Amino acid sequence: MAESIEDWIEVARLQDLRPGAIRRAQAKGLTLVLLNLDGVIYALDGICPHQMGPLWNGQFWQGQLECPWHHFRYDPVTGANTYPANVYPDDMPQLRSQIAPLRVFPVRLDGEAILVNLAPNEISSKR
Ligand code: FES
Repeated sequence: MAESIEDWIEVARLQDLRPGAIRRAQAKGLTLVLLNLDGVIYALDGICPHQMGPLWNGQFWQGQLECPWHHFRYDPVTGANTYPANVYPDDMPQLRSQIAPLRVFPVRLDGEAILVNLAPNEISSKR
């Protein structure tokens, strides 16, 4: 499917998301978390899939986004849960079922504008 200009939504200005910053954004009814990790901007689901914690109040932990409520961690590139997915043994399905990835939204800059593509076919996530 061809990319449409309407799929790209301005969600913030670069001046409001300096390196190391994490903030909330809303677009098309979605709550996003925007990250500036070492000068690279990422946009992901803003609500933690564990128990709906506010990821925009999270922090960076070794290059990952950590939820402020129970410290689940997510890879900003893939959206994959990196903790506790890496420590739950497979014989604990009740814990495994609490782990889900975040959707990752493509980001581009237009001058100072941070644009996010919310077209469904552009959104990805991985377990
Ligand atoms: S709500 Fe995010 S880790 Fe529990």
